[in-house]
Amino acid sequence: MELSNYTKLMINKGVIMAGGTGSRLYPLTKAINKHLLPIYDKPMIYYPLSTLLLAGVREILIITNPSDKKFFQKLLGNGRFLGVKISYKSQHKPKGIADVFNLCKNFVKKEKFFLILGDNVFFGSYLSKYLKDAMDAKTKCVVFSYNVKNPQDYGVISYKKNNTKILKIFEKPKKFISNDVVTGLYIYDYSVFEVFKTINFSKRGEYEITDINNFYAKSNSIENINLGRGITWIDAGTFENLYSISSIIYNIQLRQGRLISSPEEIAHKFGYIKKKLNDKEFSYKNEYYNLLKKIKNA
Ligand code: G1P
Repeated sequence: MELSNYTKLMINKGVIMAGGTGSRLYPLTKAINKHLLPIYDKPMIYYPLSTLLLAGVREILIITNPSDKKFFQKLLGNGRFLGVKISYKSQHKPKGIADVFNLCKNFVKKEKFFLILGDNVFFGSYLSKYLKDAMDAKTKCVVFSYNVKNPQDYGVISYKKNNTKILKIFEKPKKFISNDVVTGLYIYDYSVFEVFKTINFSKRGEYEITDINNFYAKSNSIENINLGRGITWIDAGTFENLYSISSIIYNIQLRQGRLISSPEEIAHKFGYIKKKLNDKEFSYKNEYYNLLKKIKNA
């Protein structure tokens, strides 16, 4: 999609949740924040960051643990190298995904915004179109769903009768409901800060994003964008998924000689950065930077 089409769209802000203990990946994450672990040739956070850039988002808030903030800052700074603005906010105690609404109000103010989980990888040729459709939605909340074999590990959608509208989302249900699950990418408007006041800690002691989304489902103000099989979505928060997505990225990049989810490439294509990709700043001697240099008009 051309940049000119994006500029007509309104969502300029995005929040990345990059906190938590990462205990599902211990001992990998005992000393290193999960979102800084490699997915083949890039730190994990490059992937959600690329998704936001692809949506045209240029102001990004990264929420992470106080002790890890400096590592994200070292990696991404203030975002200038990508022509975007990146700021950081500490989450002192992991209290669930929906705790984000305690932390991002000053950042988003009254604007619609994207929320993405820092371990969620999305790529595929029509991703831009799905993102555009989502931004055009008139509802207060948008979720993106995906068909998986193991729905019990996610927020699972039950639909209204004879309808594609969401009736209710069940968080990690033991009983089979459907194969459609909610991914870790969402759009909200500022009504979410009021909705947040109505929810309590769940049984597992967290503020659940699913409780927020169910509020919107009940009031018919949720849009569901179903991502087809042309899109790859995976949350890299388990050993299996981390290994699997690294290998997928490796194999596709090897075959095509093109990068998947490179924020530098997207920033360059959208004209966010004036510097050429063959500039000294991007000239490290390895395959990642070699592939960047090969991009047309680099
Ligand atoms: C969270 C959400 C779940 C969603 C998943 C997507 O799960 O609670 O509804 O399907 O992210 O990655 P968690 O990663 O906290 O287990």
